[in-house]
Amino acid sequence: MKTVIITGANTGIGYATAHSFVQAGHHVLLACRNPEKAQQAQQQLQAIGSGKVDTIPLDLNSLAQVSSAADQILQQYDKIDVLVNNAGMMAPRLESTAEGYEKQFGVNYLAHFLWTLKLLPVLKQAEQGRIIHLASIMHLLGNIKAETFRADQVKKYNGILSYANSKLASLLFSNLLARQLQGSSMTSNALHPGGVDSEIYRGLPAHQYKLIKLFLIAPEKPAELIHQMALAPEWATRNGKYVSLQTPAFRSGKARNMQLAQQLYDQSHAFIQDYL
Ligand SMILES: NC(=O)c1ccc[n+]([C@@H]2O[C@H](COP(=O)([O-])OP(=O)(O)OC[C@H]3O[C@@H](n4cnc5c(N)ncnc54)[C@H](OP(=O)(O)O)[C@@H]3O)[C@@H](O)[C@H]2O)c1
Repeated sequence: MKTVIITGANTGIGYATAHSFVQAGHHVLLACRNPEKAQQAQQQLQAIGSGKVDTIPLDLNSLAQVSSAADQILQQYDKIDVLVNNAGMMAPRLESTAEGYEKQFGVNYLAHFLWTLKLLPVLKQAEQGRIIHLASIMHLLGNIKAETFRADQVKKYNGILSYANSKLASLLFSNLLARQLQGSSMTSNALHPGGVDSEIYRGLPAHQYKLIKLFLIAPEKPAELIHQMALAPEWATRNGKYVSLQTPAFRSGKARNMQLAQQLYDQSHAFIQDYL
């Protein structure tokens, strides 16, 4: 029985992924911000009748809360086999996290950066600690600009581009972490899950959603891929990969730029060091 933590596991891709692990008899920790939704997901997953399901409160909007949630895991668990950094959101209007970061940069990327670094000691205890990041094809439109990190410094906000920036940041983190983990028992890989019919499109006007829905795949599809990346033997030695459903796994020049990855890593580390 493997122990798997999934952020944002109460719905969408995270829930479908949790479902596939529980069905296969594994222990899944649902790391979710909303306790009622987490409990509901837990009950549904327990009804499968195999595996084990626990919940842990995790609000990626706050580095302080992420830090204490990770501490709770470090206290309760000696070993974690798989970490799926799945939670994500889109913010059409400029918003700020609890510590003043632009919301998509903060929630989709920076909080997961802290979460992952804090959990490395328990991932290290697994025979193979596998870290999987939900990136996106949208990273192709992304940029890394320090002046967009903090909400009060953003001059002209574009929600789509900001989402793209956050996904580029996640992919750069996956790549750099993979380089750092080379030669260890741990790996870091990323994926674009395809266009997936989930709640992430909940904010779209009905007519737009109706159109976009024609091209969306079910969350079970990326869940299957994540399951393989997490447990299949052929993924044991794959590290620093980026794979994609529906479309070829094109990585932008920026996503392949390890100097940029290192720069972002250093800046991010400075942002989170008080919470480590
Ligand atoms: N769907 C797609 O087409 C697509 C394409 C490319 C990449 N992705 C990526 O795939 C991942 C999963 O997306 P999805 O489509 O399954 O979206 P979803 O159905 O909207 O689920 C997102 C999950 O993230 C959680 N979340 C949002 N903000 C959070 C916060 N501050 N703290 C903790 N959890 C938070 C949500 O919790 P609540 O339920 O409480 O809101 C929910 O559980 C995301 O990283 C997304 O960017 C999706």
